[in-house]
Amino acid sequence: MAAKVVYVCNTCGARHPKWVGQCPDCGSWNSLQEVAEPRGSPASRIASGREGGYAGGHTAQIQDLSAISPDEQPRLAIGISELDRVLGGGLVSGSVILIGGDPGIGKSTLLLQSCAHLAGTLPVLYVSGEESPQQIGLRARRLGLAGVGIRLLAETCVERILEQAAREQPGVMVIDSIQTLYTETLPSAPGSVTQVRETAAQLVRFAKQRATAMFLVGHVTKDGTLAGPRVLEHMVDTVLYFEGESGGTFRLLRSIKNRFGPVNELGVFAMADQGLREVKNPSAIFLSRHDQEVPGSLVMVTREGTRPLLVEVQALVDESPLANPRRVALGLDQNRLAMLLAVLHRHGRVAMFNQDVFVNVVGGVRITETAADLPVMLAVLSSYRDRPLPLDLAAFGEIGLSGEVRPVPNGPDRLREAAKHGIKRAILPKGNAPKEGVQGLVIQVVKTLSEAIEAAF
Ligand code: TYD
Ligand code: MG
Repeated sequence: MAAKVVYVCNTCGARHPKWVGQCPDCGSWNSLQEVAEPRGSPASRIASGREGGYAGGHTAQIQDLSAISPDEQPRLAIGISELDRVLGGGLVSGSVILIGGDPGIGKSTLLLQSCAHLAGTLPVLYVSGEESPQQIGLRARRLGLAGVGIRLLAETCVERILEQAAREQPGVMVIDSIQTLYTETLPSAPGSVTQVRETAAQLVRFAKQRATAMFLVGHVTKDGTLAGPRVLEHMVDTVLYFEGESGGTFRLLRSIKNRFGPVNELGVFAMADQGLREVKNPSAIFLSRHDQEVPGSLVMVTREGTRPLLVEVQALVDESPLANPRRVALGLDQNRLAMLLAVLHRHGRVAMFNQDVFVNVVGGVRITETAADLPVMLAVLSSYRDRPLPLDLAAFGEIGLSGEVRPVPNGPDRLREAAKHGIKRAILPKGNAPKEGVQGLVIQVVKTLSEAIEAAF
């Protein structure tokens, strides 16, 4: 069969039969690139694992679901407990983990430290397409790692990498980074969508067939998504993002997708002189509270993944000189803030249309759950009224459009965490009222926004 030509968008990875100036899928201009389709029908390519599927070459048999023994995937603890937890309790053999993050955030450092932990139990292969073995050696020395058992390979051709890996038979492999690799079968440049997709597919197939756990480092683009096609996220088992404030010490590792564990799990690290240090009690750092009460600050009890977390939320409300006052939310969804202000206006009778509103979650944490609604609103109100809230007060709860305060999952966990960190009073939704009290904590349940305002001020 003759090779067929398709046009693949370099931005989104969409495939089109004809060349057009603008990709109909993502709207980017001049991004379509001619690619020779590999021979064979799509079905045979999927069966051969070319699309990153699980079937590894041989014809699969149809089985009864009930006859499949639900053996727990054997997991290997890496020994860095923050990372183990984000992975869902350790590394699953044959799993492929994509780690994305800004340059310089510490991806290579984290993986080198993980390799050093793993090298004691498994053969480890670290493939670098970005740095020379000397550079990696320097980093290992800086981290104080002996480097025993870590095998290094500086190579960018995926076929040669897999050839060497097949000989070396590593239990764990690191690819730093996927954007630097290329396959000889495609003419396009490393980092282009087709190259990233094809090299990743080859690596995934290798990992599945040889039960080698594999970490892929992926760069992120300016808007914070993983460079290369979204298909990369579909091909791998786990997607982790490494984030943090540039220049800050704290780094957050978050699971976005995980076939072997919970998503949105958060691991917290601090970047020190000798590499990344685990932060086992993150509530303590995000709670760097003031000695004195200040208006616009409140502790919220959020929950990231399986762990409750106490974080300070700060608000600044100030008269605006602008016709369109500013609404700025850092670490929160901007639209959610706009919605909360509308609810506050309608149901709390507080108008802020001539005020700039800034909200910030301390420590660079990004909150993705609705339990932040109530504390954000109270912090905003506290700043607006210039009335400080007590230091030992905490709140959580979702706010609905009709001004009702709605329960959120895992109330008891949150209350225990709050009590543990010296919180004396908590405002929470009625639906989250604990059956028994929590020791050392005064609990105030509220049903509506006006009740919450009454309770807080
Ligand atoms: P790196 O792991 O190279 O980042 P990435 O692979 O994500 O691009 O980390 C580089 C940054 O981390 C660099 O700015 C220096 C800093 N760093 C430390 O602060 N302490 C250390 O021990 C190491 C190894 C790096
Ligand atoms: Mg790096």
